[in-house]
Amino acid sequence: MSPKIAPSILAADFAHLASEVAAVNEHADLLHVDIMDGHFVPNLSLGIPIVRALRRHSELPFDCHLMTTNPAAYLPELADAGATIVTMHIEAVPDPTAAATMSRDLDLGFGLVINPGTPFGAVRPFVELCDLVVVMSVEPGHGGQAFIDEVLPEVQAARNFIDSEGLTADIEIDGGITPETAPRARSAGADVFVAGTSVFAAEDRGAAIVQLRNAIT
Ligand code: DX5
Ligand code: ZN
Repeated sequence: MSPKIAPSILAADFAHLASEVAAVNEHADLLHVDIMDGHFVPNLSLGIPIVRALRRHSELPFDCHLMTTNPAAYLPELADAGATIVTMHIEAVPDPTAAATMSRDLDLGFGLVINPGTPFGAVRPFVELCDLVVVMSVEPGHGGQAFIDEVLPEVQAARNFIDSEGLTADIEIDGGITPETAPRARSAGADVFVAGTSVFAAEDRGAAIVQLRNAIT
């Protein structure tokens, strides 16, 4: 699959979200929305009202990354607010079968996320339920951290498993993605590249996405 870029609005200027989204609409493939609860991760970010508000400003698929405990509780409201795909952490939901079914019933795409310290094997039994397998390349909770190369074997393990089993899930890499780090994740088998700081700290958001895409295409 040709790589997809998912700018993370966690790094955007929250006082000007509509124009921030407008700046990436024509260049991005998905919009990544980081939802934190101050419990699963020691930070707060943004929530469902922001998803609902941004839906009127973008036709991009919304990739909603739930860094929360009990993520299934938010699914009906997220679907109503305009989420396209929801991803949740295997560390928060050891058996995600019911959450995956609930997502399907709500017409939401479904994905599972592993933290840097969690092996791919933790989600392997559930990959057939997934549209997306997400490998965190930073500890979740904050943008602007350095890419952790040690997760690359887990990306490769996911790639090998998905290909050998003939499954359809895409592999997303999230955290510290830049034109320097993205090619390493691409080589390991990643399909979708979340980029917060490298897009929204750039003067020209569109040009930053083009630069990232050029690095991995
Ligand atoms: C971290 C979030 C990431 C973050 C990425 O908890 O899941 O999506 O926004 O930001 P950068 O690209 O700055 O590492
Ligand atoms: Zn994220």
